[in-house]
Amino acid sequence: MNKESKNIPDHVGIIMDGNGRWATKRGLSRSLGHLEGSKTLEKTGIHILKKGVKILSVFAFSTENFKRSEEEVTYLMNLFIDMFTKKCKEFKKNNVKVIFSGRKSPLRSDVLDAMDKLVEDTKNNTKGILNICLNYGGQEELIDASKKIAIDYQNGKLDLDTLNKESFAKYLYNDLPPIDLLIRTSGEYRISNFMLYQMAYSEMTFPDTLFPDFTPKEFDIALEEYQKRNRRFGGV
Ligand code: FPP
Repeated sequence: MNKESKNIPDHVGIIMDGNGRWATKRGLSRSLGHLEGSKTLEKTGIHILKKGVKILSVFAFSTENFKRSEEEVTYLMNLFIDMFTKKCKEFKKNNVKVIFSGRKSPLRSDVLDAMDKLVEDTKNNTKGILNICLNYGGQEELIDASKKIAIDYQNGKLDLDTLNKESFAKYLYNDLPPIDLLIRTSGEYRISNFMLYQMAYSEMTFPDTLFPDFTPKEFDIALEEYQKRNRRFGGV
């Protein structure tokens, strides 16, 4: 086993930022930046999972993104349906299981239907997981988990003394391991409410590249950087 294959992160997160700027720089509508971003996700996503990463979590749409223009939100919702119904073939072909994290409301019923169908169609796939965060917020995820915990406690289903990091994670949208490597494209140095619980000890890289220009090669550069880091998890 070479050095690279020994230290592959189990869980990678990507904040796919810069679609709008990519398009504006070319005199195109912001929506075309999202379309280009969706092609990038398909190409690099497969590459990342083929490298041996077990889970890839991507930030597709935040709860706050509903504040964008109606035109952009509608375009994105239709793009998601298109991706989930037709273009996710590559993920299906590569035996990837697709799951979603986020709130259902106020997503349109046709978007929810496309999400449910993709989850159903890929539920038995075994070569990695693509976790799509859609209508997602990290603080919202913690609030929603707290509400579920309160209900279980009220119904006598939860002994509070047994609540720990692992059992808390079971109340999140999906029970996933921690994010080892977080990549945010476009040179912005923020985590913007992405997977707060899972990112407690993530290593982070912030390439300047706008997401539509992000390539498998650039993922490999981020991976090399990750492999040089010394993860201490609060120890010495
Ligand atoms: C952030 O860039 C990107 C988004 C809000 C949307 C991300 C969506 C995709 C990449 C489409 C494909 C995804 C799936 C899961 C089908 P921005 O618009 O904030 O860019 P800016 O900062 O340059 O304005």
